[in-house]
Amino acid sequence: MAKITIIGVGNLGKSILSGLAGSDLLDPKDITAVDTSKYNLKEVNEQFGVSVSQDLISSVKGVQWVILCVQPRQLDVVLQEIKDVLTSTQLLISTVTGTSIDEINSVVPQNKVIRVMPNTGASKKLSMTCISANKNAKKELEFVEKMFNTIGETLVIEERLMQAATVLGASGIAFFLRFLRAMIQGGIQMGFHPHEAQIIAVQTAIGAATLVAENGTHPEREIDKVTTPQGCTIAGLNEMEHQGLSSSVIKGVMASYEKINTIK
Ligand SMILES: NC(=O)c1ccc[n+]([C@@H]2O[C@H](COP(=O)([O-])OP(=O)(O)OC[C@H]3O[C@@H](n4cnc5c(N)ncnc54)[C@H](OP(=O)(O)O)[C@@H]3O)[C@@H](O)[C@H]2O)c1
Repeated sequence: MAKITIIGVGNLGKSILSGLAGSDLLDPKDITAVDTSKYNLKEVNEQFGVSVSQDLISSVKGVQWVILCVQPRQLDVVLQEIKDVLTSTQLLISTVTGTSIDEINSVVPQNKVIRVMPNTGASKKLSMTCISANKNAKKELEFVEKMFNTIGETLVIEERLMQAATVLGASGIAFFLRFLRAMIQGGIQMGFHPHEAQIIAVQTAIGAATLVAENGTHPEREIDKVTTPQGCTIAGLNEMEHQGLSSSVIKGVMASYEKINTIK
């Protein structure tokens, strides 16, 4: 079995561990978590049975895979610390937003790098993880897909689309949640208690997404099924569109995309 070290077990690192440690792919004993926070390390050790360490150098020696799961501003410090002990057979998997494979390779040219962009659905094994690799790491892609399939769905994409994947998939969690909040507010105004409105809106959102996911249909096809001519659904939908629903969502997605391209 492969040995893995994950550097950074904050929000995302913990979610990734929850999938990996519970899968048939790896023995928790073969996973080492490294973090500056003793609290995070204690938590992942107790919860997932993985080994823990605060020593970066000894933790990366001899493992096949190193998952980088620190904030973008922390990445260079980590790479500088491990670059001289990494050997060319070790693979790096980077979850770090906005840092390209070439930028990582400019510090560690000897290592193959695969980029992944999961989302916080990972903690419920419902992540959408986009993955990209250079041609030289196509063989290793298969194992990375298996790894991230333990925390949800995966899709291999070209690296040029990684920023777009971050907006649609990672920021997308926030976008859908804001729509959910608006539905709950509407429910309260119609007379439901907040917790009742939340139960109804959340289950309806799960139902709507599952219809599209499992039927493989376009959303508009499922909308047609609940839109009676002259009925209340079409009245609501048309008013939302008159107020700019689709247009504001697309503009919001594009504003996020423009912003991500300026962040470094
Ligand atoms: N959260 C998401 O939805 C999401 C989705 C996709 C991608 N990402 C990307 O994933 C990466 C991690 O995100 P996150 O939300 O999990 O961040 P986070 O919660 O801040 O976790 C990063 C962890 O790494 C630790 N760390 C920092 N420097 C270290 C070092 N030199 N050695 C060992 N550990 C170190 C941090 O400790 P300290 O707190 O002490 O610094 C922290 O516990 C980011 O690059 C982010 O862009 C996140």
